Amino acid sequence: MSVSLRGADVRDIAFIMTCERRPGYEPFVGRWPQDKHRLRLADPEFTYLVGEAESHGIGFAILHRTWMRPQNLYLKRIAVHDAGRGHGKRLLSALTDWVFAKTDTHRFWLEVVEHNERARGLYRGLGWKEEGLVREGYFDDRLLRRGSFVQMSILSTEWRQ
Ligand SMILES: CC(C)(COP(=O)(O)OP(=O)(O)OC[C@H]1O[C@@H](n2cnc3c(N)ncnc32)[C@H](O)[C@@H]1OP(=O)(O)O)[C@@H](O)C(=O)NCCC(=O)NCCS
Repeated sequence: MSVSLRGADVRDIAFIMTCERRPGYEPFVGRWPQDKHRLRLADPEFTYLVGEAESHGIGFAILHRTWMRPQNLYLKRIAVHDAGRGHGKRLLSALTDWVFAKTDTHRFWLEVVEHNERARGLYRGLGWKEEGLVREGYFDDRLLRRGSFVQMSILSTEWRQ
């Protein structure tokens, strides 16, 4: 099953919001309301992509670039509709190909909730490196306490190898 990526538009927001809200995802991935997605979609700093296989959406990714860190691209969010079926691996692999082929990114990076073992396993398996702990970097609204992220990245030179 090969995955293709296409730029998203407002018609994809419902699918993206459904993916964000799949059962069990709440501790690991942010959820924005429709208005916030509309704003981000219109913001040139953000890129929204939908991954498709056999003409069906399997997941999405949101990328963020800022002038403050040239050639660094932040993977703001990634989620698949159906977890545990290999879709995430295919989506992230296609996404990383896309990023290094279509943009001038040198360092592609992200922050993952420390106890999100599935996502950390996915990233490590595709060659991402753990850079360190972002200590108490977010507030967990469900547990009413702070949690830490692991910061990870992959460089264009590593991906080409
Ligand atoms: C994280 C996510 C994108 C992974 O996609 P997925 O389709 O569930 O994962 P896959 O089935 O493709 O598995 C990919 C790899 O993850 C790793 N993995 C899967 N489950 C794992 C677990 N419980 N522990 C450690 N590694 C695990 C394996 O290395 C696996 O590769 P392999 O099958 O070749 O060994 C998906 O689960 C998701 O959308 N989760 C909710 C949102 C989220 O956490 N997003 C990431 C925010 S940083």
